[in-house]
Amino acid sequence: MFKACQDLGVGVGLRPPHYPIFRNKTPDSVSFIEVISENFMNWHNHKITRPIQMLEQVRQDLPVIFHGVSMSIGSADDLNQDYLRELKNLIQKIQPAWISDHLCWTGVDNKNLHDLLPLPLTQGVLKHVTDKVRRVQDYLGQQILIENPSTYIEFKASDMTEWEFLKELCEKADCGLLLDVNNVYVNSVNHGFDPVEYLKSIPVSRIGQIHLAGHSNQGDYLIDTHDAPVCSEVWELFEWTTKNLGFFSTMIERDGNIPEWEVLEQEVLKIHSIRNN
Ligand SMILES: [Fe+2]
Repeated sequence: MFKACQDLGVGVGLRPPHYPIFRNKTPDSVSFIEVISENFMNWHNHKITRPIQMLEQVRQDLPVIFHGVSMSIGSADDLNQDYLRELKNLIQKIQPAWISDHLCWTGVDNKNLHDLLPLPLTQGVLKHVTDKVRRVQDYLGQQILIENPSTYIEFKASDMTEWEFLKELCEKADCGLLLDVNNVYVNSVNHGFDPVEYLKSIPVSRIGQIHLAGHSNQGDYLIDTHDAPVCSEVWELFEWTTKNLGFFSTMIERDGNIPEWEVLEQEVLKIHSIRNN
């Protein structure tokens, strides 16, 4: 049974340009932050002493969520025990509200390709990913959230939709779902489906958190670049989600062209206004 994540309100993915703002005083508009776990792993390493100190300080004021990009849960490789050990160390040190990673693979043969790569959506892959999610949860002693990824190709071998795969995965692995509304929209354009049908089909009781982000429009396809403001279509989907599925901890992800905090904060405030309507 999925232990539902508490609605932590409105947050942001905290990135280095905004560390000084948060070190000085956490903004009133933000009630949680998310960080990329890998940026703080090996925290005993001298070179990253300052970020971990910053994180410890912010953690005193706000709940922190860990978001991973290298668990490679779909890879044919076995789980990386060194990675999981470091992640567990960081969890014990910071005590995040929860942790998440993506439905993807990021490498094989112990090589990290530093990209979130798509999986064939088959019963065989479902069984493979389910087994690995269960083993991760057993090792960490907690349930994790798996995020719907943005993808640019589909596999002929796939015999189910992404939402069917995620629904089955959440039930079979007993994990939660990190719903990235921008990724739903990106995939709906890239692969030609109705994003509202997607949102209607996902298991609401498994949603633990929502991501919003911007993408780049390449004409006949979209790339999930996180380097632009959230577009109007994604805001509309988020409004639909809030109205029809409920309230979940919701945040802005921005990783490129990062603006001044006062500019990014306008998007944080827009989440507040949608939740308050
Ligand atoms: Fe995301």
